[in-house]
Amino acid sequence: MKAIIAASVLSACIALQAQVKQHPVPRIVEKDGRYALLVDGAPYLMLGAQSNNSSDWPATLPKVWSAIEYLHANTLETPIYWEQFEPKQGQFDYSAVDTILSQARQHHVHLVLLWFGTWKNGSQHYMPEWMKLDPERYFHVTNKNGEFVDSPSPFAQASLDADVRAFTAFMRHLKEADTERSVLMVQVENESGTWGSQRDYSPAANKIFDGPVPAEVLKAMNKPPGSSAPNWRDAFGDEADVNFHAWAVARYLGKIVAAGKAAYPLPLYVNAALRDPLKPGPPGTYESGGPTDNVLNIWKAEAPAIDILAPDIYLLDTPSYLKVIELYHRPDNPLFIPETAGTPHAARFLFSALGLQAIGYSPFGLDYTRRNRPDPSVNGADQNAFLDPTAQNYKLIEPMMRDIARLNFEGKLEAVSEVEGQPTQTLHFGDWDAIVSYGGGRGGAAKGNAEPVGRALVAQLKENQFLVTGYFCRVDFRPAGTEQQRKSQSIVVGTNQTPSAQIDGKWQHRQFLRVEEGSYDSGVFKPLRILNGDQTDFGLIFSSEPEILRVSLAIY
Ligand code: DGJ
Repeated sequence: MKAIIAASVLSACIALQAQVKQHPVPRIVEKDGRYALLVDGAPYLMLGAQSNNSSDWPATLPKVWSAIEYLHANTLETPIYWEQFEPKQGQFDYSAVDTILSQARQHHVHLVLLWFGTWKNGSQHYMPEWMKLDPERYFHVTNKNGEFVDSPSPFAQASLDADVRAFTAFMRHLKEADTERSVLMVQVENESGTWGSQRDYSPAANKIFDGPVPAEVLKAMNKPPGSSAPNWRDAFGDEADVNFHAWAVARYLGKIVAAGKAAYPLPLYVNAALRDPLKPGPPGTYESGGPTDNVLNIWKAEAPAIDILAPDIYLLDTPSYLKVIELYHRPDNPLFIPETAGTPHAARFLFSALGLQAIGYSPFGLDYTRRNRPDPSVNGADQNAFLDPTAQNYKLIEPMMRDIARLNFEGKLEAVSEVEGQPTQTLHFGDWDAIVSYGGGRGGAAKGNAEPVGRALVAQLKENQFLVTGYFCRVDFRPAGTEQQRKSQSIVVGTNQTPSAQIDGKWQHRQFLRVEEGSYDSGVFKPLRILNGDQTDFGLIFSSEPEILRVSLAIY
């Protein structure tokens, strides 16, 4: 009998080990300045949707999963609420975590879990009641007038200790419970920082503010080391308060992240309520303390265990959006957009993000719980209208997301979205340029779409073969000459119907050898037909239908 029990325990252990082996812990890797999220050992693109804040309850989850299915999303971002997780001090309730894990497995969807801990949108609203009822111990930020504001103080040691304990318990549980590795990443806090005060002006915080700026902050902010370290005001002038608060909040989160990582080394990231980098406004006009673009270096220096500083992008003005993704795509920071708007205009920016090797993207509030949203059934509007722009993207990209993630990691992919007043964009691939144009119809001059909704993605499969897709655009290819020829010659671009270029005094014209239209089946491109004649004579035209082309080129 004992032998039978021992044998079955052993086989259960082996099965568990095999399972864990089959699903390694997701991790972020970097090569030649490009990043990938490895899931089951290969680059993965998170096509996400974030639920509404109060949706992660058994009563509302059905309205989340049906939206995820409609969207073709492969990842759900959803919160874990500290108030639910630790209803009594030191007593952890794992039921919500277990429910979301088991439902994600049933739906074959990955998860990004959002730890709504000390901070949620700059406030402490998700702290458990036993903390809210003890504001002297778990104290708030004090403003310049000596009043408490609706934001937790990063100097409240008891809050930090409590968050470290709870977050560590959560991560430890995830490690044991999530053997299938449904959870790809965890967000630590939500838009940490403070609205309504640039920093904590309590006497204790003021004392630290009047002391020397830590050496790593001076270095990170390119302040030359002097004989004695300056205080915050002397070092940073008008920016001193926001820099100080960023340092204090980053230090607090850095400790939580380090403890959570020690329990379970998943990728951990922090999201930012942005300031507009093109029109930032003075300190005090944006959330202070979080990883806004002006303090990214402070966050990197103070909290190195954080894998990604990630922008929540609700700025819909095209130059601002593009500037944000440029600023958060750094050699030390992979681009990941954990929240953005899912409107028809914003949806195209997924392609701009892919052009900067984004590892994931996730519009906010995409479920059917409809709270805070006008009920469309009242006026008869299409109840899926708010999901459709994202669904259109994901329907196209999800079946090929493994190829996209891999080609992007290998540096073979370019993607763009339409910019108002710029009807043509050029993408460079070795001997070929891909010309993307918008609003030209068949053969007409590009003049831009009536609304800027165009987007295109081109990836090089072989020297003369490309994967091409997009919406509301036309793509064509032009010989670009070799790098050497480009350096030594001025290349003349042809203006006739077939894209051509005069290189080394000789005209080279593009010809399509073969344009295959196909679809992805189990991650593999399957050609369905060869396009020619009217379907290619005016370039490769993409409208509102999801179409994927594999294009082989030659010159004559
Ligand atoms: C950004 C926050 O991170 C989200 O949780 C949510 O509050 C949205 N803003 C607005 O609905």
